[in-house]
Amino acid sequence: MRTLFKNIKELLQVRNEAVSFLSGDEMKELPTIKDAYLLVEDGLISDFGPMADCPEVQTDEVIDASGKIVLPTWCDSHTHLVYAGNREGEFVDKINGLTYQEIANKGGGILNSAKKLQETSEDDLYEQTKTRLDEIMALGTGAVEIKSGYGLTLEAELKMLSVIKRLRANHNLPIKATFLGAHAVPHEYKNNKGAYVNHIVNEMIPLVAEGNLADYIDVFCEEGYFTVEDTERILEVGKQYGLVPKIHVNQFTSIGGVQAGVKYNALSVDHLEEMRDEDIEALKGTQTMPVALPGCSFFLSIPYTPGRKMIDAGLPLALATDYNPGSSPSGNMNFVVSAACIKMKLTPEEAINAATINGAYALGLQDEVGSISKGKRANIIVTKNINSYGFIPYSFGANQVEAVYINGIKI
Ligand code: NIG
Ligand code: FE
Repeated sequence: MRTLFKNIKELLQVRNEAVSFLSGDEMKELPTIKDAYLLVEDGLISDFGPMADCPEVQTDEVIDASGKIVLPTWCDSHTHLVYAGNREGEFVDKINGLTYQEIANKGGGILNSAKKLQETSEDDLYEQTKTRLDEIMALGTGAVEIKSGYGLTLEAELKMLSVIKRLRANHNLPIKATFLGAHAVPHEYKNNKGAYVNHIVNEMIPLVAEGNLADYIDVFCEEGYFTVEDTERILEVGKQYGLVPKIHVNQFTSIGGVQAGVKYNALSVDHLEEMRDEDIEALKGTQTMPVALPGCSFFLSIPYTPGRKMIDAGLPLALATDYNPGSSPSGNMNFVVSAACIKMKLTPEEAINAATINGAYALGLQDEVGSISKGKRANIIVTKNINSYGFIPYSFGANQVEAVYINGIKI
């Protein structure tokens, strides 16, 4: 099967050489080709260039992309897509002034979602999650990470991971699974958190690994949740089972989570709303990708990750949605890219790099997605007729995505 996209107004993120991720000043540049073609063969990008060089080849389909911009699909490296019901009730508490912690303390929060999830059948959970996955794909997401963490019992955590496995079998975009047993301390362990950590390391991790149910391991390293010591213990055991860390750190407090992530070679450290200078220093020269989640800052009215400062300090940065019922009930990467420009002062070039190439790295999928490169999957967005790519973040809240192709097939 061969498809030719021709007369593309501008083709974004074209990379001839393999790039694993972009840091500092490298993020300012977004390579593009104006008036371009893109050739797709059997789901992969086989060629691209200026229209003047468009080859005369037999094709099964020709798509005229006149007036439209084509770019790689968004790579969303941090979501909690599997959840039951929602937490709309807490939304009003939040409007009335209660903080995230106050809502959690009065019986809301993660434990509220865990209770609902435990009572929901796997089939029902699958259907609820599938709806969200279809929704984010239509908004341009072409690779995604999904976490467990609303089960908090062995049975319910395995149920979540099994839903992710089914999604992967029934959808053609790449999906990475993360085990987040250490998302909150369940009620039963309220006065004995150590016993829950023991349960995670002694029972949960071995079974998750044995069933090959996760690629990554996560911990909510935060005051009132899991300490740096708990985090390191979990990451140490995860490592023995081949689970690479991608962790929640510095959302509300800077307690050393970034340093723990770096120590355990985390693929990414995510949130980072509260960053001290020493946290920025700790990330320099490492292979750990910092991930900002501006949808969460927007929804909770908490500070935004100091992305401008981090990039100016030479760090890389990725952007993700954190799609979840409590702190970011939206999986819209277009909005995330806008918010990164408007609130974190990234340029459109930096934000698009952060949401494509660097997001692919934070997913461990830099060889498959994230750029227009020969041999990568033809996971692409075709925009509506727009003047320039800057219009995507500028027109916040609107949807400039006209069509999404996954492995060269229109969804
Ligand atoms: O990434 N901070 C921890 N976990 C989620 C929120 C979970 C929830 O409130 O349900 C997050 O923001
Ligand atoms: Fe999260």
